[in-house]
Amino acid sequence: MDVYHMKRKIAVAKGDGIGPEIMDAVLRIFDAAGVPLEYQFVEMGKSIFDLGHSTGMTSAAREAVEDLGILFKGPMETPKGSGVKSINVTARKVWNTYANKRVFRSLEGVNTVYSQAGIPIDMIIVRENIEDTYGGIEHMLTPDVALCRRFITRPGSLQVHRYAFEMARRNGRKKVTCGHKANIMKMTDGLFLETFYEVAKDYPEIVANDVIVDDLAMKLVVRPHEFDVVVLPNLQGDIISDLCAGLVGGLGFAPSANVGDNISIFEAVHGTAPDIMGQKLANPTALYMSGLMMLRHLGLKSYADDLEEALFKTLSDGIHTRDFGAKGSFARNTDEFADAIIARLSHPGHDTPAAVAPRPRPAQNKVMEERRPTQMVIVGADFFLESNQQPSEIADRFIAQLETGMQLVTMSNRGTQVWPVGSIYTECINQFRLRLEWSDPEGTTQQEILRMAGKIAGQFKICSVEWLMAYDGKKAYSLAQGQ
Ligand code: NAI
Repeated sequence: MDVYHMKRKIAVAKGDGIGPEIMDAVLRIFDAAGVPLEYQFVEMGKSIFDLGHSTGMTSAAREAVEDLGILFKGPMETPKGSGVKSINVTARKVWNTYANKRVFRSLEGVNTVYSQAGIPIDMIIVRENIEDTYGGIEHMLTPDVALCRRFITRPGSLQVHRYAFEMARRNGRKKVTCGHKANIMKMTDGLFLETFYEVAKDYPEIVANDVIVDDLAMKLVVRPHEFDVVVLPNLQGDIISDLCAGLVGGLGFAPSANVGDNISIFEAVHGTAPDIMGQKLANPTALYMSGLMMLRHLGLKSYADDLEEALFKTLSDGIHTRDFGAKGSFARNTDEFADAIIARLSHPGHDTPAAVAPRPRPAQNKVMEERRPTQMVIVGADFFLESNQQPSEIADRFIAQLETGMQLVTMSNRGTQVWPVGSIYTECINQFRLRLEWSDPEGTTQQEILRMAGKIAGQFKICSVEWLMAYDGKKAYSLAQGQ
């Protein structure tokens, strides 16, 4: 096989702002190192939104990424106020890159509070990348009340935990920590935590523990060297990983991989830096390090090792762009920084890419289902109603609509019980949740709940209705605060 045919073709989107400057610099270094990759440049980002493509990518770009399975991308701008969704989030979700991996390591030549104190940092954050509030499913229930739905699913959580443990095992990592808020969100974060320990059982050689996310934030700042791999739900992972970027020198040193079973996306954590675009001031390190993650993902370890060593030598020789390095020392521009890395390449790589063949497309969407209870009972429903009346008045009007075998068990406002008992000091907004339960142990039916909803709609503005389920006799809903 000649060398050309051993190249792995990947999709590359240069991105907006500083994107083209840093991508050109990175690809120039890869080419100088003889990395066996072939690039198919695709159109994504601001210019494509401006042309009227609401997803921010052309259909040719979508086809190319789906065929090639790898997207190496620069940062992209989401037009503000136009109602379009972020191309970065869309790409991660549409292609099911369920795990976001970010590596944080102290780098010689990059001064931080921790490097000066002699505290080495070497950890990996794995953030769930699809679910949580990032579903972006939001509604104004009343003109005063916004609601965002937060999805945490069993299959989605198992997928990301499995990825975290497999990755830890492959890399000889010793500990995986789950960050969560299961003390407050017992259903959602509770499910994330429960599935974490289910998966952990299959990796007895790896220590598994969990930390509540607020405590985690404090511990990461005070004792960052005690963490190895940390896995988190999407939003908490977003915040914690930026905190970790700060620990190792800022966004200029934060690479990331969005990993899925079919498609993976490699990108820097930072944005398009419009304040410095076009001036060749940008630091290409985060994109470069994301590229190294991509090379390792593709089985090109020897190339990644060589390129990484050249970066480390460059940094430890004190060579830097404007955003870091010794104050008063000469800062290189993006291209000069890339040249310095090229000059330090020393051990040419030798691996061949893991997969060169075109990827077969799945014939249909994968539907993931992990658990089917033997008994599922609808025990009642939560009615979310708009009203500015007092709780007792609302309760009286609601109860007047009920029939034999139905009971109003609690009413809450912003999650705090205000009826049958509550505090006069609980301030209410104009949206109440009324919990209606059926006394029959067999529960009720969807039709019955909808019939009651029709009846109640004659009296109140219904904002939404949520079923109360019991799976195998276990309540599948939370209690109100104070219930
Ligand atoms: P930003 O990360 O672009 O910039 C924040 C600050 O960091 C700026 O002062 C910038 O000059 C500096 N900076 C960022 N990257 C740098 C680099 N490589 N070298 C030197 N300095 C660097 O964040 P901002 O300003 O909030 O967002 C700008 C745009 O980027 C927005 O349109 C946003 O939507 C987009 N964005 C895209 C992301 C992606 O494509 N994954 C991620 C984050 C933001």
